[in-house]
Amino acid sequence: MEEVIKIEGGRKLSGTVRISGSKNATVALIPAAILSNGPVTIVGVPTISDVKALAALLEELGVRVIFKAQDHIIIDPKHMENRPMVSETVGKLRASYYFMGALLGKYKKVEMKMPGGCYLGPRPIDLHLKGFEALGAKVYNDRGIMRIEAEELIGTKIFLDVASVGATINIMMAAVYAKGRTVIENAAKEPEIIDVATLLNRMGARVRGMGTNVITIDGVDDLGGCFHEIIPDRIEAATYITLAAAAAEEMTIENIIPTHLEALLSKLQEMGVDMDVNVDSVTIRHTDKALTPVEVTTGPYPGFATDIQQPLTALLTQAHGQSIVTETIYPERFKHCRELNKMGANTDVRIPSSLINGPTPLYGTVVEATDLRCGACLVVAGLMAEGITEIHNIYHIDRGYENLDGKLKALGANIWRETV
Ligand code: EPU
Repeated sequence: MEEVIKIEGGRKLSGTVRISGSKNATVALIPAAILSNGPVTIVGVPTISDVKALAALLEELGVRVIFKAQDHIIIDPKHMENRPMVSETVGKLRASYYFMGALLGKYKKVEMKMPGGCYLGPRPIDLHLKGFEALGAKVYNDRGIMRIEAEELIGTKIFLDVASVGATINIMMAAVYAKGRTVIENAAKEPEIIDVATLLNRMGARVRGMGTNVITIDGVDDLGGCFHEIIPDRIEAATYITLAAAAAEEMTIENIIPTHLEALLSKLQEMGVDMDVNVDSVTIRHTDKALTPVEVTTGPYPGFATDIQQPLTALLTQAHGQSIVTETIYPERFKHCRELNKMGANTDVRIPSSLINGPTPLYGTVVEATDLRCGACLVVAGLMAEGITEIHNIYHIDRGYENLDGKLKALGANIWRETV
């Protein structure tokens, strides 16, 4: 027995959708909060299964977690204990690895089994570990259990060979209590990193340069409680913007930061999508003009986000001509193409690219969300397809999209869950 999402395609969507707090910021903010010695209140927390899993991990560490109102969480680490993190939950999500930096930073020691997450091809954590080592830690791997410990952590200069989001955040967290100054060079510049650094600074840390490729952290002796509001989810926003371009008569996506979405918005403009960008919203209108094919190359922020190429590919099946998507972050992140082809698309994967030949009508059939953003891609495709699309493995979608069915229903989509 499995719960699936079913979508009857072809309905024209209209109305307004409000974007939730950023998943990829939240999954780092929650572990970051344990660096504090007082209660941290975070607002704008999305109701997604990754948050539930992180709350369970906090409770395993003896941290008090209070969910107040719908999107309000209080994390109180007063009675926390540094226990080995070896439960099944650790393996469920990739973001568990943020507890490495946070626990190492706070206790100079952490024991954890390898984290899980979406399979997008190889996802090493060597840069995280090298960063911890540069700060003075020793890393041991005993049959899949990592033990990372240090006599003391001492600030130093760390150059990241790849501008990794996870490594940048993890090193920042490990360095907040380190002695002296840590400088991360070739740091990633994603908005989620700024959000985490902002939380750390509100707790009393001294992080500078976030949002640029050089981040400086001056160690402090104590961090306290604070209040923090999460930035809007730019990938959820991108998903709704794309599905509006695919299936809406007129739709407004609100609670967005347009500068976070520039790479997508300029591609959509190039495709001929009719849109009005405002201070914190965008309105997309249906046009009868044929969509122009485009070439997209993913890259680190402010480049085109790898997480957005999958939902965009569904829309590209309707462009007139050949579009090309090239991955520079995860060269194997193309499993959605096989699923789209089951629905009638004509895509051809030649790693690290996919060629999308359009336009092709799409037909509802049984498909599989092989990862979170593949799920988003299939939702976009399902809304355009003739007939009913049945999406399996929807736990991937529930990991990252708050109330997807409710939001789409309110926009006029015919979407429901069934146990099959
Ligand atoms: N990399 C290494 N060594 C490392 C770490 C990364 O070689 O130690 C490489 C990766 O293999 C990849 C590149 O560096 O080629 C960038 O990876 P990064 O570390 O930036 O990715 P991440 O932190 O694991 C986050 C998001 C992903 C998003 C990527 C890229 C979270 C929890 N995850 O992953 O989001 O695709 O950045 O922007 O923030 C998603 O939301 O669906 C998702 C997968």
